Amino acid sequence: MAARNLLVTGGAGFIGSNFVHHVVDNTDDHVTVLDKLTYAGNLASLDGLPSNRVRFVQGDIADAGLVDELFSEADAVVHYAAESHNDNSLHDPRPFLDTNIVGTYTLLEAARRHDRRLHHISTDEVYGDLELDDPARFTEATPYNPSSPYSSTKAASDLLVRAWVRSFGVRATISNCSNNYGPYQHVEKFIPRQITNVLRGIRPKLYGKGENVRDWIHADDHSSAVLRILDDGRIGETYLIGADGEKDNKAVIELILELMGLPADAYDHVTDRAGHDLRYAIDSSKLRAELGWKPQYGDFEAGLAATIDWYRKNEPWWAPSKNDVEAFYSSKGQ
Ligand code: NAD
Ligand code: DAU
Repeated sequence: MAARNLLVTGGAGFIGSNFVHHVVDNTDDHVTVLDKLTYAGNLASLDGLPSNRVRFVQGDIADAGLVDELFSEADAVVHYAAESHNDNSLHDPRPFLDTNIVGTYTLLEAARRHDRRLHHISTDEVYGDLELDDPARFTEATPYNPSSPYSSTKAASDLLVRAWVRSFGVRATISNCSNNYGPYQHVEKFIPRQITNVLRGIRPKLYGKGENVRDWIHADDHSSAVLRILDDGRIGETYLIGADGEKDNKAVIELILELMGLPADAYDHVTDRAGHDLRYAIDSSKLRAELGWKPQYGDFEAGLAATIDWYRKNEPWWAPSKNDVEAFYSSKGQ
């Protein structure tokens, strides 16, 4: 395939920056990153990438003029930018509406004007949650039933994409992925919060009883799936991305403690999240059968150990955010 100019929104965030590294390592494509650099964006996540392959533009996806200019130069667009943290959305939902809904609308209008291929990154949380003892998993046919301000704005953005495909012929696809882990994840999120707590001598914090189940996938596996869909996904289709990585939060916190050489019970139970989704689980058969994708990081313990090692070696990357994040959580009893 000929080298493309990809526009990647949110490419200085966790999963977006992992995708930019993946594209540079696995294709000849050139990348323009459009990122507002909110508290969650970090330019250091793009350090070491070749300047003749990756260009950075600071800006807002809701800025129609800027978006128009960047779409005119791009062959295809991969849209990661979002307000992404459930706990923040319970505290202050407004930025979630502005970025996740109005921002996505702005990109769709540009895709329509310029007839550009767009891949929209979404989440399994649009489907709500499953019971702990239910063997069911989410599929592309599961009805939308989001629980939080975050997941409801992501659901709204997915529905906008579907409407722009059907009404205006926009060439878009959607993927809904489960919980990612790996390098460059903000310390507000569960796994990096606990790792950096241990590194700082703070006890890890488990919401409620820790029975909630998340379906973990390495961010690099998410990236390879997105590239497959961008290359060969059928326009208008949704693909679920998951790696059969269901674990309850208590088991994950115990494994982090064990891998970091501490007793498995050296953590605190803290106030539960309001409306806390019980269980997510992805059936990714469609993606695997149709596009031949499969995950490479099958061993969660090995992936987690490598992630712990990354945070150990990259304290300057995460240290500037750590105190503010812990002050915010502690003001909520978490
Ligand atoms: P993140 O919070 O780490 O990064 C988001 C990035 O978007 C940041 O760099 C931020 O600066 C940028 N951004 C925010 N508002 C912007 C705006 N208005 N204009 C331009 N840039 C803006 O998020 P993440 O965890 O990397 O998630 C990326 C995407 O993947 C999101 O769409 C999220 O819904 C989706 N997703 C995340 C997960 C997960 O486990 N983290 C799982 C499935 C799907
Ligand atoms: O499922 C995909 C979603 O995964 C993405 O759409 C979101 O952007 C991403 O943030 C993530 O959402 P979660 O709410 O599942 O992730 P978080 O890391 O915030 O929490 C994971 C689980 O751990 C959840 O059940 C809450 C719990 N938790 C979280 C924190 C921060 C704790 O027990 N203790 C904590 O300190």
